Parts: sequence; structure tokens; C-alpha cells
Amino acid sequence: MRSLVAFGTKYGSTEKVAETIADVLRSSGHTVDVADLRRKSVLELDDYDMVVVGSSIIVGGWSKGSKRFLEENCEALRRKRVSMFVCCSQSYLRPEERDDQMRNFLTNVAQTHGLKPESLGLFGGEMDFDKYGFMVKAVLKKVGVNRELEGAGVDTSQRFDFRDWDAIREWASELSQ
Ligand SMILES: Cc1cc2nc3c(=O)[nH]c(=O)nc-3n(C[C@H](O)[C@H](O)[C@H](O)COP(=O)(O)O)c2cc1C
Repeated sequence: MRSLVAFGTKYGSTEKVAETIADVLRSSGHTVDVADLRRKSVLELDDYDMVVVGSSIIVGGWSKGSKRFLEENCEALRRKRVSMFVCCSQSYLRPEERDDQMRNFLTNVAQTHGLKPESLGLFGGEMDFDKYGFMVKAVLKKVGVNRELEGAGVDTSQRFDFRDWDAIREWASELSQ
């Protein structure tokens, strides 16, 4: 089985999630390539039996590169085994809204591109305020993200990692079946 794990990211933390998914698939015998969609959106998908595509959620949507990848490759993807995942903060901060997050960040995105994914993964991400510029920090503060994080006990002066590696590995191991 030849598989591609393609990921979109704005601040880099989704790369380790994609690499972890790839490692799990490799340990189940898949030959896996990982593609950073900040760099390349048109890939030779004919080479792959299965494609796992994911992104971080920034301001309610997939990253620029991952959106472009879906738009440019949706026809080829419709002929493949496809699974999709996202990393975001809402899944950690508002677990009670999980159904809405699944619909908004995954099911609707799949439907828009005519895809019928075998599996959908909704994961937490990482907030690292050192990586954000002045404007982004100001906007996060203004829209109440800092308050929400602090309300959940997060120290917003430090990097906060809420990626659940066990959940990510478990999801990936189910894909490899
Ligand atoms: C400017 C900004 C906007 C964000 N917008 C959302 C959002 O709308 N919904 C959400 O659940 N998480 C949001 N997040 C959290 C990111 O999805 C999370 O930090 C993710 O792990 C970032 O991944 P990346 O480092 O791969 O880009 C936002 C984070 C930043 C910095």
C-alpha cells in the first residue's frame, strides 16, 4: 500500500501530527510520503492508493495551501481512499461542540469537494504565542481567545500543546487496516 499524508499548516505544529500519522502507517507496512502543502499543491496522486489530507484550522477554515490542494486535486482524490483530519483549539476548549466542529471543519469541507472520506479525525493543536506577530496577538486578544484559553487554565505567556498523541496514533492505526 502506497500512501500520502498531505498537510496544511500556518505555524508548523500540524507537521508533527502528519509525521506521526505517517509513522503509524509505515509501522503497518505502508510506503508513505509526507507533503507539506505550504510548498506544493499539485502532486502526482496516481502514485498513491490512499491519501490522508489534513490542516490546522485558522480563523474557522483550512490553511491556504491545503484548500488549494483540495481544489486542484479533488477529481483525482474522488478516485482514491481518502481520510481527512484537522488540528484546532476548539476541540480542546469546547468539547461539547464536537459535532459542530466535525461538521464545519471536516464533513462540509469533504462535501464541498465531492469527497467521501473513510475516516475523519478531529484533534487538538498547539498555541505558541511566541510565533505570532503583533497583529495576530492583538486580534486573538480582541476576539476573546486569550480569555477563553486562560479560563481553561492555559498560561498564554507560554507554548501550550494540546495535541493528543494517543488519539492521533489510534486514529492512524485504524486507517492502516
Ligand atoms: C490566528 C489564529 C487563528 C486560529 N483560529 C482558530 C479557529 O478559528 N478555530 C480553532 O478551533 N482554532 C483556531 N486556532 C488554533 C489553531 O488551529 C491551532 O493553534 C493549530 O494547532 C495551529 O496549527 P499550525 O501550527 O499547524 O498552523 C487559531 C490559531 C491562531 C494562531
